[in-house]
Amino acid sequence: MKVARGAVLPDLERAPSLIAERGGALGTPLRVLFETSSTNDLAKEAARNGAPHGATFVAERQSAGRGRQGREWIATAGESLLVSVLLRVACAPQRLPLLSLASGLAVRDAIARWTSEAPQIKWPNDVLIAGKKVAGILVEGIAAGDRATAVIVGIGINVFQRTFADSIVDRATSIAFFAKSPPDRAELLADLLAALDRDIGFVAARGLGLVHARLTQFDALRGHPVTGDAGTGTAEGIDLEGRLIVRLADGSLSRWQAGEVHLG
Ligand code: BTN
Repeated sequence: MKVARGAVLPDLERAPSLIAERGGALGTPLRVLFETSSTNDLAKEAARNGAPHGATFVAERQSAGRGRQGREWIATAGESLLVSVLLRVACAPQRLPLLSLASGLAVRDAIARWTSEAPQIKWPNDVLIAGKKVAGILVEGIAAGDRATAVIVGIGINVFQRTFADSIVDRATSIAFFAKSPPDRAELLADLLAALDRDIGFVAARGLGLVHARLTQFDALRGHPVTGDAGTGTAEGIDLEGRLIVRLADGSLSRWQAGEVHLG
């Protein structure tokens, strides 16, 4: 692990040995910085410079952290796990949303070890606990022609936060509110990388089949009224193409490809 600027919290120092113990292909090399613009940008730059599959970037603080749909991702230094993983997987751009769903499962599973309440997945890319967002995922492809030749999975997990900005206080939560024991970011990171390693290559190559039952099991929207860009209805699940299946008021089924969805 290469630590820049010395101010990284000591809890992350055990990450390399825990990652090695898990024996997976992700998390090596691991670069941990105090501050960067965005760990996704670091991973992209590393990809262009030939970094290998599994190279992982963690920062305590991001000056230009970003979320989906051009939104900012703001996190107080030391309270989150902010991580981006470079995956050298080739896939068609249509598969990127599937990787986002599979990554959501990995994040969910890693968080579940620490919480008294089971985390759930909110299509297309959030992880919730008790209906509030505990983690977000931003998957970005590096394209060559019409294929992504590498994929960056950027993940922000709220770990220790107990206060949130007024604008998100109703929608955001952290592991700390539900923790069975004090969360350990090094363990969380090692578990997350192992879980990603387990599923992501398979999903990139063959689609959601292997993980679909677990996606259904932890689907936060299933059975609930939802509102999205395409209207309102009741969510009935996620299909094998990663689309949200919604029963509309007239009884017809609609399949939503992407975008924002709100419960209720
Ligand atoms: C979202 O919910 O909109 C996705 C948020 C993704 C945030 C993470 S934090 C680590 C990585 N670096 C970024 O700039 N974004 C992702």
